[in-house]
Amino acid sequence: MTALFGLDLKDKPILIVGGGSVASRRVRRFVAEGARVTVVAPHISDDIERHAGHGDIVVHRRGVAPQDLDGAWFVLAATDDPVLNDAVAQWAHERQIWCIDASDASKGTARQAAMSKHGDLGVGVISLGAPDPGRIRAVRDAVAAHLDGGEVDLRRRRPGSGRVILVGSGPGDPGLITVRGRQALSEADVVVTDRLGTAELLVTVPYDVDVVNVGKSPDRHPVPQREINSLLVGRALEGKTVVRLKGGDPYLFGRGGEEVHACIKAGVDVEVVPGITSAFAVPARAGIPVTQRGVSTSVLVTTGHAGADPASIAAMAAGATVVILMGVTALPGIVDAAIAGGCDPETPVAIVENGTTVHERVTHGVMADIVRRADETDVKPPAIIVVGQVSQPGLLASAVAATPEL
Ligand SMILES: C[S@@+](CC[C@H](N)C(=O)[O-])C[C@H]1O[C@@H](n2cnc3c(N)ncnc32)[C@H](O)[C@@H]1O
Repeated sequence: MTALFGLDLKDKPILIVGGGSVASRRVRRFVAEGARVTVVAPHISDDIERHAGHGDIVVHRRGVAPQDLDGAWFVLAATDDPVLNDAVAQWAHERQIWCIDASDASKGTARQAAMSKHGDLGVGVISLGAPDPGRIRAVRDAVAAHLDGGEVDLRRRRPGSGRVILVGSGPGDPGLITVRGRQALSEADVVVTDRLGTAELLVTVPYDVDVVNVGKSPDRHPVPQREINSLLVGRALEGKTVVRLKGGDPYLFGRGGEEVHACIKAGVDVEVVPGITSAFAVPARAGIPVTQRGVSTSVLVTTGHAGADPASIAAMAAGATVVILMGVTALPGIVDAAIAGGCDPETPVAIVENGTTVHERVTHGVMADIVRRADETDVKPPAIIVVGQVSQPGLLASAVAATPEL
């Protein structure tokens, strides 16, 4: 009869006998779990050496003896000698210590589980019959893919203390949210969102999850930040898991800091899941690398909401890449200030609207004519403006050819 348990390995003494590839993999796992690992083997792998060098584990470079097991809570017999592994398993049995025998599961008292972690959930798969590591890993991977795909309802069934998770949803393409972001969405009792672009991500959210839209719509002003903060805190204090879904990365012009502050002030548990920011992803998807060897070695990200600030003007004049968010309305003023501040009027500029979505559109120009071109194409927010040589059309085709060592 075999049962699956979640053992707490933190600070527990674990003995690994053997220093090869199986032992290396296990050392990594046990160290990650916070165990106090001792390895005994005449020869040890480079990987195990590295752990020993970092002080993560203790290594004895010699053959194993029965007394090495004294005081251990768990033993892994992972040498390339099945007879020795069986002897270690026998010594463990005599001392009532759980033991995995890597060469014959039936000789040990524990079996290796294939594991994966998903937020605060762990999945473990073991074979109840003959050991078959490839098979249990395949099952683990299938379950993991299902959980990470956001298709499983991971809401807590037992009441607990509420929490807020700020999730960066990425720039628009629903494939560009992080794995942890998707997991968080499937844990949500409440989702507070402010972006039409996140609608596709909400398709898999169960029908009884409360989705609150606090964003601007054609017939409504956005909800003031103060009210959003109290909504997040209030629902969390009711014991709910509240996901605050935000475009791009929560901290880049996203007011995420204010929301986190409100949670901390109210004593509400808060987690931040970083997102792929539109500042880099939108140009990247449009074929614009924000830095490029031999073209631009620095990048400044700014808001154009209130025009161009002195740091951005200086960066544009110096030939750095400048990525401007929320700059469509103020574009004429930004261009005037940049040229007056020394920016070459022939500096390439690209404007990417609705980047990474099916509505993506790119308008190219140079500083001197970009306002006219934007008028002609009727550029509208949301858009990213990229100023600098990296914005010249066809740069990658020519730059890669010119720098073959890249
Ligand atoms: C309030 S800021 C939020 C930025 C976000 N936190 C991020 O990291 O991407 C909103 C601005 O981001 C830019 N933006 C966001 N998503 C975009 C997209 N898919 N295409 C173009 N610009 C985008 C626009 O300049 C928009 O006005």
